[in-house]
Amino acid sequence: MHHFAVRDGHLHAEDVALATIADAVGTPTYIYSRATLERHWHAMDAALAGVPHTICYSVKACSNLAVLQLLARLGSGFDIVSAGELARVLRAGGDPARTVFSGVGKRDDEIALALRHGLLSLNVESAGELARIEQVAAALGLRAPVSLRVNPDVDAGTHPYIATGLRTSKFGIDIGAALDLYRLAAASKHLRVVGIDSHIGSQILELAPLIEAIDKVLGLVGRLAREGIALHHIDIGGGLGIAYRDEATVTPAELGRHVCERVRGHGLHLIVEPGRMIAGNAGILLTRVVGTKHNGAKAFVIVDAAMNDLIRPALYDAFHALAPVVANSTAPWEVVDVVGPVCESGDFLARDRSLPHLDPGDLVAVFGCGAYGFSMASTYNSRPRAAEVLVDGAAWHVIRRRETVGDLWRGERLL
Ligand code: LLP
Repeated sequence: MHHFAVRDGHLHAEDVALATIADAVGTPTYIYSRATLERHWHAMDAALAGVPHTICYSVKACSNLAVLQLLARLGSGFDIVSAGELARVLRAGGDPARTVFSGVGKRDDEIALALRHGLLSLNVESAGELARIEQVAAALGLRAPVSLRVNPDVDAGTHPYIATGLRTSKFGIDIGAALDLYRLAAASKHLRVVGIDSHIGSQILELAPLIEAIDKVLGLVGRLAREGIALHHIDIGGGLGIAYRDEATVTPAELGRHVCERVRGHGLHLIVEPGRMIAGNAGILLTRVVGTKHNGAKAFVIVDAAMNDLIRPALYDAFHALAPVVANSTAPWEVVDVVGPVCESGDFLARDRSLPHLDPGDLVAVFGCGAYGFSMASTYNSRPRAAEVLVDGAAWHVIRRRETVGDLWRGERLL
């Protein structure tokens, strides 16, 4: 559910006509709905009400400071993957004690920063990383809170680039090897074993793999308990898929029903790391038609947003729904490729898509862009990055100004 809807023939975000925003700040622009972000966060919170829990929103999905601030004010924790993301959480008023640090390549300085800020957990990805965390903690005279991210060898049934729970992926510690590492960690005076973690992938549309992974992890929790290694929490990662067109999804309520019952028996605190489920359908990308052309049998609509603004179609062949911002019921329907100005054939937002006829100057909304949209944007082809706007009822705020050409070469120098 989201708060982008047509009223009187004009697409709105909450109570604001998208055309108003385009006229004021230009295009391309990312537009987020506060009501949608909050609704999704509360849906997850309510779904987990049966157990003590913390929602650690995955910052990488959409890391704008105002979005993080809004979630922090709801009481959200955060899942981070770099010192940069930690800095964002702190700047936005997020609580480091409700923040977990994921990722396969944490540098020593990032580990030290996390320890100095008192993070809730470092989610450990390998034996080597555990040893480095211990060394860094010892040098600081601290005890590092650690959870092992186990790889349960479960197929999440998602795009191979975003599946992380198979033994062949770079993520996590083989579940068979985790017990020994837990013993090592529990014996260290510079490590404090706090939990266990797994994250098997993203855009997951089936409950079964999520439950299979949790059951495998809980099996290990039982063995650890029998050895006297008691955990505070189980972190089941993120991964809930959203509807980009008409896919059936696993609702937070469904997930909650199955997970709470399982976790309650172990007396554990539950952590989840949703990203897409919260931000995905809470954002659109607003773009304007630059021109149209035909090449052979193909028709193209060229818009002012490109793969540098939204890379998901190019990278994963991802589908994003598109709609004209101002409805024209008399426009004939056409099958077109919607493409950007970047010099790559992979620069498309939609291929072979049936849309009402579009003319230069028309506005188009690209849906489902709140997660992994702006956060994956680049300045490729020296295109300044888009503005970001947060709509809140009838009010709207620029939460990131459009980059300027000067921003493009910030930090560069002529010799
Ligand atoms: N926790 C960890 C450890 C993760 O690696 C991720 C996402 C999440 C949580 C959040 O997952 P979510 O709830 O959003 O599925 N760029 C890709 C998605 C990459 C996901 C990376 N990890 C895309 O555009 O589809």
